[in-house]
Amino acid sequence: MDSSSRQLLKVENLTKRYLIKNTFFKKDYFTALSNVSFTVDKGSIVGLVGESGSGKSTIGKIILNLIKPDEGKVYLLDKDITNGLSKEDRKKLSIIFQDPRTSLNPRYKIKDILQEPLTVHGYPKSERETIVKKVIKDVGLEETFLDRYPHELSGGQRQRVAIARAIVLNPMLIVADEPTSALDVSLQLQIVNLIKSLRDEKGISFIFISHDLNVVGYLSDYIIVLYKGKVMEKGKKEDIVKNPIHPYTKLLLQSIPPDHPKHRKTFIPIKESINNPEGCEFMDRCPMATQQCKQKPTYKVLDGREVYCHFV
Ligand SMILES: Nc1ncnc2c1ncn2[C@@H]1O[C@H](COP(=O)(O)OP(=O)(O)O)[C@@H](O)[C@H]1O
Ligand SMILES: [Mg+2]
Repeated sequence: MDSSSRQLLKVENLTKRYLIKNTFFKKDYFTALSNVSFTVDKGSIVGLVGESGSGKSTIGKIILNLIKPDEGKVYLLDKDITNGLSKEDRKKLSIIFQDPRTSLNPRYKIKDILQEPLTVHGYPKSERETIVKKVIKDVGLEETFLDRYPHELSGGQRQRVAIARAIVLNPMLIVADEPTSALDVSLQLQIVNLIKSLRDEKGISFIFISHDLNVVGYLSDYIIVLYKGKVMEKGKKEDIVKNPIHPYTKLLLQSIPPDHPKHRKTFIPIKESINNPEGCEFMDRCPMATQQCKQKPTYKVLDGREVYCHFV
């Protein structure tokens, strides 16, 4: 296959600014994303990793057309979807949120929650019922769960229902925004493995968003490391996890907690600073920073991987 027939989604130079101060005298913008580009191949899992506030959810929302970028484009199967999705294209994209307690309507039974997207897309009742009985099994739950309400389910079961709802229209791509972050460690692995099996068996592509490089490294084929809305490094999973080049990727890997709490490193919280707009976004945290970093680096391409740093 050539690259265009492999490619499902492309985001190109996404930039998003949020207005944070709006007075008669002054408007201040916060740059949440700056020139983010990547592609998602059919049937692949792309991991988006970065700490809280790095812009991960903003990317997901732009792809799903929930918000518009200030600059940049989103292409689905080579079609520009930046400024709107047709009903057919909307079916191709889906989302799973972090917290299934708030993402499932507590007043609806599971079968109604799962049927809703099918109703919106005009599926007849009998077909809706058949599809819903199938997807509940696809996510590893019994048919009897269809008659329950969300509060009658455990956290892990609720997240399975959220995944069932995400696959009910047979999408090509699911944006999974921290789908395991609200779950216990033992459940996290189950959900991650469910995502993996949906990719393997149904060929669904995923953009898997997490602050945890451990989980992202386990699941993804390709990894994008974000810091303050900027891609620091992106490349194949093996390259990023086994041989990180960017100092931030190295820091993220080091911060994967060892088993004993005594050996855990403290994580320096992100500063939402808008100073140093001319320099490298990572400069204030970088152990390697020099005067040179007061200017922005460019991307260096190394064996298919791209790194945003002066020192590579
Ligand atoms: N509607 C908004 N208005 C102003 N700032 C926002 C808005 N949404 C997100 N932000 C800011 O943009 C940055 C990126 O947010 P987000 O994409 O949610 O990050 P992440 O998902 O990586 O935690 C954060 O600093 C956040 O505070
Ligand atoms: Mg988020």
